[in-house]
Order: sequence, then structure tokens, then C-alpha cells
Amino acid sequence: MTEKKRILSGMRPTGPLHLGNLHGALLNWIQMQEEYECFYFIADWHALTSDYENTSMISEYTREMIIDWLSAGLSPDKSTMFIQSRIKEHAELFLILSMITPVPWLERNPTYKDQIVQLSNKDLSTFGFLGYPVLQAADIIMYKPSGVPVGMDQVPHVEITREIARRFNYLYGNVFPEPEAILTKTPKILGLDRRKMSKSYNNAIFLSDKPDVISSKVSIMITDPQRARKTDPGDPDVCNVFEFHKIYTDKETINDIIPKCRTAKIGCVECKKIMAKSLSKSLEPIREKREYYEAHPDLVDEIIADGILKARKVAETTMKEVRASVKI
Ligand code: TRP
Ligand code: SF4
Repeated sequence: MTEKKRILSGMRPTGPLHLGNLHGALLNWIQMQEEYECFYFIADWHALTSDYENTSMISEYTREMIIDWLSAGLSPDKSTMFIQSRIKEHAELFLILSMITPVPWLERNPTYKDQIVQLSNKDLSTFGFLGYPVLQAADIIMYKPSGVPVGMDQVPHVEITREIARRFNYLYGNVFPEPEAILTKTPKILGLDRRKMSKSYNNAIFLSDKPDVISSKVSIMITDPQRARKTDPGDPDVCNVFEFHKIYTDKETINDIIPKCRTAKIGCVECKKIMAKSLSKSLEPIREKREYYEAHPDLVDEIIADGILKARKVAETTMKEVRASVKI
């Protein structure tokens, strides 16, 4: 049997996972379990880079996120799940990599420039925030993965990771393979208000939302903006609710809705009720699993402890090699 290729990816614990995260990353992670040896981790130190002023939620979000992962279908038998801050080797490798990373590589990083503008309410003129990609590079190359499944916004970080790995190898000898970004297709799922789904926009549907919450969120969704009254014909092709139908509702019902919408024979209120129901039904297995893990906190602790143990073993081996190569 040939060895499976290894992949690694991480998420910052910024809050409960929503449908955008599910379709944008998690479903892909779950699928990759079949083909790859997977390492998935919570980047809690990375959460500090922008939220250092208020750290009160980070550890709770960390645990909740792992429960979200498990509920959605990441399996502890197939994937190693761990928490960044519990593997101190990440900090050591970060420090060493920071010695060899030219500051201009970090300053010209488009994601960095973008975030400084977008999060202008926070003071991000810190050393740690500039060094975000160096920590990310340490997270990644520590495990020598062949690929890193990420969204478009993270591609510059993987690119810097490759450059840092190359520079390390050039200076100290060949230790690190250069990982490839494995691009996750970004889904057409938008938030309730048709902006990108995001917790900070207050337009998200969370995996943990109960059916009544889903119903009330769906009821305020923006539909075909041209359709002001129930008697106006609608156009499913420009309707965000319909995008959800395409994912969650059965074909037959969808085929029934399309002509009725175009001829104003169905109103948006009714159409949304149908969608909310199919969405709730699709999320039911995830919700049930969440209830199970919430009722078994020891099991969650065990899964996390086990993942940390496995990750640490790899990290310790890599760091021995690193120390020997750097001669320190
Ligand atoms: N920067 C990533 C994000 O914001 C999180 C992250 C940290 C990560 N370290 C990583 C992703 C290593 C992939 C690999 O989503
Ligand atoms: Fe959208 Fe349905 Fe309303 Fe048509 S009837 S505009 S598909 S919500």
C-alpha cells in the first residue's frame, strides 16, 4: 500500500461555524479525509493577532469549533485534530523562521494590506500581526504536508510559506518540502443580506442554529430585489433564497418552484418556508451529533488530547531536525 499524502489546514477560533465555512472549507476537509492523511488545527495564537485586546472568548470558541468539526463529519479515526497553542514547537519554529524572513516579504503581502484596511477599528500595527504569515509558515512546514487546502484569501500566505521553506533549505540544508495550496472552490452561498456570509456582518446561519432560529433568519433574507410585491413575477436566477434551494431542496420541489416564481404563483414567504424546512432537515444530522458531543464532554477532551499527542510527536521530530540543521 502506498503512503497517503499529507495535508494540513487550520482555522482561527473566531466564533461558531456558519454555512459559508461549511461549504467553503469544512465539507472539503471532510472529503479529503478519504484520500489524504489529514492534520487540522485550531489556530488560537493567530486569533490573538487581531483580538489581543479581548481574549475572553478564544478558548471557548476553540472547543466549540472542534465540536462543530466533529458534528459536521471530521472523524478522529481519520484526522488528527489539535490546538496550535498546545504544541509549543510552533512558537520555536516561528522564532527561527522569523530570523530568516525579510520584512519586505511581509509588508507586500496583499492579505496583510487588505486586513489593515478592513479592520481599521483595531490597532494592527503590531509585530505579531506583521509576522502572521511567519507563524502560519511554521504551522504548515512543521508537518511537511504536500498540500494545504485553503480559500483564495490564503494563497499569498502559502506562497510566503514556500518562499520561507526555500530560504531555510538554502541556508541550512534540505529539511522542508514546499507545500502546494489546494484551492477550495468558493461557494455561491451569501449571507442573509446578500453580502459575503460572515459572523461580523450579522448575516450568518450557524451549523448549531435550531430550526426556529433558521426559520426566522430565512424569513428576513433578501430575495429577488426586483420583486417588490407578491403579484410581481420573480427570477430565481438572481435570488439568494433560490441558491439555498439548489443546495438543500430536492429537485422535484425546485422544478415546481421555478415556474411558479416566474409567474407569481408562489410568494416569497411560502418559498422561504420551504427552503427553511429543507435547510433545517439537512442540518439535522449535524445538530444531533452536536448534542451527542455536548452530552459527552469527556469524549471531546479525549479526542483533543489524542490529536495533540499525535501532532506533538511529528513536531518534536521536525524540531530535532531543525535544531541540528541550524546548529543550535
Ligand atoms: N490564516 C488562516 C485563516 O485565517 C488560519 C491558519 C493559520 C492556517 N495557520 C494555518 C491555515 C496553516 C492553513 C494552514 O484562515
Ligand atoms: Fe426567490 Fe422563491 Fe421569492 Fe422566487 S419565490 S424570488 S425563488 S424566494
